[in-house]
Amino acid sequence: MSAETRQGESAADPCHVAIIMDGNGRWAKMRNLPRQEGHRRGLEALRRTVRHAAELGIEVLTLYSFSTENWRRPQAEVSFLLGLLRRFVEKDLAELAEAGLRVRIIGGREDLAPDLRRLVEHAEQSTAGNSGMTLVVAFNYGSRDEIVRATRAIATEVAAGRLDPAAIDEAVLHGHLDTADLPDPELVIRTSGETRISNFLLWQAAYAEFVFSPVLWPDFDKADLVAAISEYRRRERRFGGVEPVTVRKAGAA
Ligand code: FPP
Repeated sequence: MSAETRQGESAADPCHVAIIMDGNGRWAKMRNLPRQEGHRRGLEALRRTVRHAAELGIEVLTLYSFSTENWRRPQAEVSFLLGLLRRFVEKDLAELAEAGLRVRIIGGREDLAPDLRRLVEHAEQSTAGNSGMTLVVAFNYGSRDEIVRATRAIATEVAAGRLDPAAIDEAVLHGHLDTADLPDPELVIRTSGETRISNFLLWQAAYAEFVFSPVLWPDFDKADLVAAISEYRRRERRFGGVEPVTVRKAGAA
């Protein structure tokens, strides 16, 4: 984002913005369209937002695309969402790579079909050396599941004698999360007027600012992203201290 600061805004911009993309179903219902159409238009909003975030200089953009709880939806809707992920990874990869973006997928991989898993791995490997914005797609992601998987990995290392339990600290746990190499989000946006965190980045968002937008995800546009960032810039962040901290490197303890 430009260095220009509007009145009442601090100079700090978020490096990492995470979005709970909500409201696809309501968007479709309001138009008497099937929910699938809402998701299809949601994918278009996702593509737009990736472009806008890169234009605004955001370094990491995380998008909550499918939660560990979303498997409870009707089978047809689950299949449709899996198909959208497949289409996104297959069809958009070349364009994302061309734009210099790094692609990461977080969440449990074991529930994905082997060929989809290979596509996801290919997307990550082929863009790993890029230096542009990191796009993190949270798919089959749940924060509690992520923490359980991290804990299991740590316990395995302890059982094998490679890790002293006394050495387990916040950095060790952080290092076993799917987001180990990413900064924590400073700004979490949720669309559609809902004000829940819904099992998203519970550990990582410990000090994030939350902005709740009434806009339904398929309608989310650049002006809405800019408005959320402006709102973030007006917040005073103290990280448990007394004095406001204006500029803080993302992910720092
Ligand atoms: C929440 O809206 C949205 C989702 C659960 C899916 C998000 C998916 C996309 C934006 C497009 C797919 C992109 C990929 C890469 C898979 P909702 O269905 O809960 O809406 P509602 O609360 O209005 O019913």
